[in-house]
Amino acid sequence: MSFDRSVTTLIRPDIQALGAYHVPDAGAMIKLDAMENPYPLPGPLQKQWAAVLAEPAVNRYPDPRAPEVKKGLRAVMSIPDEFDILLGNGSDELIQMMCLAIAGPGRVVMAPEPGFVMYANLARITGLDYHGVALGGDFSLDLPAMLDALGKHKPALLFLAQPNNPTGNLFAPDQVRALVEHAPGLVVIDEAYTPFCDSDYLGLAREFEHVLIMRTFSKVGLAGLRLGFLIGRPAWLAEFDKVRLPYNINVLTQAGAAFALEHFGDFRAQAARIRNDRASLTQALQALARLEVFPSEANFVLVRTLKADARRVCAELAQRGILIKCLDGAHPLLRGCLRITVGTPEENTRCVAALREIL
Ligand SMILES: Cc1ncc(COP(=O)(O)O)c(C=O)c1O
Repeated sequence: MSFDRSVTTLIRPDIQALGAYHVPDAGAMIKLDAMENPYPLPGPLQKQWAAVLAEPAVNRYPDPRAPEVKKGLRAVMSIPDEFDILLGNGSDELIQMMCLAIAGPGRVVMAPEPGFVMYANLARITGLDYHGVALGGDFSLDLPAMLDALGKHKPALLFLAQPNNPTGNLFAPDQVRALVEHAPGLVVIDEAYTPFCDSDYLGLAREFEHVLIMRTFSKVGLAGLRLGFLIGRPAWLAEFDKVRLPYNINVLTQAGAAFALEHFGDFRAQAARIRNDRASLTQALQALARLEVFPSEANFVLVRTLKADARRVCAELAQRGILIKCLDGAHPLLRGCLRITVGTPEENTRCVAALREIL
């Protein structure tokens, strides 16, 4: 018998059409492309950290319930008892779990655009239809368009990132509420960037059973741990838990996260510092000619080059050893746009100085 075992026959055509998630090699560059916290683990914690990570029995599988991590999260984030917590290998994995659990013929995932790319990617990979609704020109929600799309497409899942990536803004709370009231399915409020602002939608999740809150350790200084968490009613989380791989949070991540939660004040202090540095960076960028700067509530700032070609600016920054994210071409509303993660004050100063030369 002969078989056609070619890649083109066996791999789903829609997967073949996708590009793999590209992560540029930063080497020794100043890394301002991925919304990481630029500060290492606070000095006094570094020694203890090494001791904590030496403890877990790596010959054993992790406890899939990760009780210490969940206990710490509950205490530090004041998560009420009515909610359960589901952990993911980064919030990316939680998005994947939710998509897997709801996927089926005709099922739709929806999000405003430009938004976090993994909503669309993971929806498509898991066989769902994805429908993006353009934001307004000022990156606020286009409420009539969103309400219209909710009625037409009846999404089983609606993602709202607050603050939004890559635009950095918060949507009007009354508009978020209106979407929650009219959504025919689940609404996930992705709070990846709340450590850098005063927004918090836990209250809305208490009011509406179909609202889930997703957060991550990635932006507060622990991107390398890979830990995201979903907060919501036990009935929902119990279903998502069924598609979770049994040991998705490894022993070192669990030990590291439980330790970090005991010292969470230090991470919050770093986030507060980044928030201050964001204000200085925003001001310095605003002082540059030929640059439109969008106000941000996150740990990055979106800018638009008014005369220069954004891709050339990005390439010239890279030549000067500074890596940022070029978003030109990612969405019509992002024409000429660049996203700059807030780094240390010295990194920010170097980035602004380089931009002054280039623009
Ligand atoms: C809005 C938003 N949600 C989720 C994530 C993913 O975070 P994690 O590192 O927890 O997978 C990101 C990462 O950039 C993001 O911007």
